[in-house]
Amino acid sequence: MQNAGMAALKLNWRYLAFDVQPDELRTAIVGAQAMGFVGLNLTVPHKLLAVDIVDVLDDTARTWGAVNTIRFEGLATDGTWRSIADFTDTTPQKTRSRGFNTDADAVTRSIQEDLGVTIRDAKILLLGAGGAGRTAALKLAAEGAAELFLVNRTQSKVAGLITEIAQRFPNIRAHSGYPAPNQTIDLVVNATSLGLKADDPSPFDTAQYSLSKAGAAYDMIYRPAETPWLKTARAAGCRTANGIGMLLYQGAKALELWSGLNPPIEVMREALTKNVYGR
Ligand code: ATR
Repeated sequence: MQNAGMAALKLNWRYLAFDVQPDELRTAIVGAQAMGFVGLNLTVPHKLLAVDIVDVLDDTARTWGAVNTIRFEGLATDGTWRSIADFTDTTPQKTRSRGFNTDADAVTRSIQEDLGVTIRDAKILLLGAGGAGRTAALKLAAEGAAELFLVNRTQSKVAGLITEIAQRFPNIRAHSGYPAPNQTIDLVVNATSLGLKADDPSPFDTAQYSLSKAGAAYDMIYRPAETPWLKTARAAGCRTANGIGMLLYQGAKALELWSGLNPPIEVMREALTKNVYGR
């Protein structure tokens, strides 16, 4: 996806994957900076660790408490910090790493664009309160969802999240547990890892609530393309989408941050779909 996007933008860049041990993360980031890398993406478990490693945190990383994108920046002669990619003819006086979070925006963008759900004033049931679930809950609250119903195997995480939502977004009604059986809602989101493996139990308890009461269902899992839960949701009449859009939009935003250019979304989508699904 990134290499296709970079090629379409005529950037002579390459996107490469590296396995880095958590205790080597700082060395890896500083090394990439020294070698003139434009930026990095990070995944689990590095997203939280990087918060304490990068030189500067962008507001997005501060707000969501995780870094999935790093941009290396240089100090220009006019005293401003710019993407290292802007220094084609000159050498920056100094360089630094800036941490961003492009995941949170990608969640709501994908939900809105891929499902046609307007988050503002929506009633949403969220399954899962791990790393992805927490960010999704806070972002949905920040976007003005009317009501959030939070379900997680480990109840203490839901309680912690409800406290955090009450502090940061006092207008949002956040509840623990499923909606009342006869209440209709706009959206159910699966942010648990259940569905990744074929023999996983369902993330959703049909004894508590019926999917036929929900307008749309979003599964953050994108491989398999349709988890058994998402299939059930479709059969119950929900509009459905998987998490491939999240992956696409967080990457497109990262490319925009590194290059300062408009990311070619459709080129990136096509490359991503081809790589993930072989079609
Ligand atoms: P991620 O970063 O993908 O969110 P995570 O923080 O490990 O990963 O969160 C995984 C989510 O899937 C959590 O909501 C987890 O529930 P717990 O908080 O109770 O651990 C949920 N999950 C994983 N395996 C599960 C299982 N067997 N049954 C129920 N929930 C499960």
